[in-house]
Amino acid sequence: MTKILWNDQIVEKNEVKIGFEDRGYQFGDGIYEVIKIYNGDLFTATEHIDRLYSSADKINLVIPYTKDKLHQMIHELIETNEVQNGQIYLQVTRGDSPRIHNFPNPAVSSVLTAYTKETTRPLAQLESGIKACFVEDVRWLRCDIKSLNLLGNVLAKQEAVTKNCFEAILHRGDTVTEGSSSNMYGIKDGVLYTHPVSNLILNGITRKVLLDCCEEIGLKVVEEAFTKEEALKMDEFIMSSTSAEVMPVISIDGNVIGNGKPGELTRKLQKAFEQKIPTTLNV
Ligand code: PDD
Repeated sequence: MTKILWNDQIVEKNEVKIGFEDRGYQFGDGIYEVIKIYNGDLFTATEHIDRLYSSADKINLVIPYTKDKLHQMIHELIETNEVQNGQIYLQVTRGDSPRIHNFPNPAVSSVLTAYTKETTRPLAQLESGIKACFVEDVRWLRCDIKSLNLLGNVLAKQEAVTKNCFEAILHRGDTVTEGSSSNMYGIKDGVLYTHPVSNLILNGITRKVLLDCCEEIGLKVVEEAFTKEEALKMDEFIMSSTSAEVMPVISIDGNVIGNGKPGELTRKLQKAFEQKIPTTLNV
């Protein structure tokens, strides 16, 4: 049985007690991270932990551990559960308190839970590319916070799945923002375009790694939003996330992108990305 990190203790699943008035449960009042594990090692853990604390700061939530302590605790969880390839899910809520919208006063302790999961890399899709569809971005205006409030994302992903697509490409009016759980990029005439970091997208950790890969292969990056129409005319299209890595998008709403196959620059970026992940195994 895999164990769970519950606040600062590693316990059995059935020992975890979460109150029915936990604010994460009632309001989505909390924040989270998903970190990939390759060959028993956390990938870009520092960046994920920094973003968790930054999300916490933005909603005035206090995480009662230092970053180092948290890093050490999740590392211990991975070792305890003997995860080789997979991911860790980590969330912190504002705690358990009688239901009122405003923050509990006096404050209550936040509630941290983290668990690990064995997963394999999405190798088939990384090879073939995936289909996506446009979905109106109806989320709030603080998408920079990795908040537990994911209803807008959930509904968008469900629409994509219903349409037999892997991901929803969100747009506000005509402007493409990001995916329901990923960042989006288009490549046109040898330039990679992506929405700039702002309150309208999550500043993806994989996005940062991908932009480093662009620099390495000499691909020019323009952090400028593009429209739905422009998206359809891109030579190549990519989505990125912790679990999807650098994923080619080969059609949008049934419209083929480029020649309908993952493009040459996408392949180069995938290679550059693979060189950064601590794995020699194709899992
Ligand atoms: N999702 N944008 C959104 C809305 C996301 O939910 C995610 C990640 C990303 C990509 O961020 P990163 O590269 O740091 O994973 C962009 C995670 C994986 C999830 O909710 O499962």
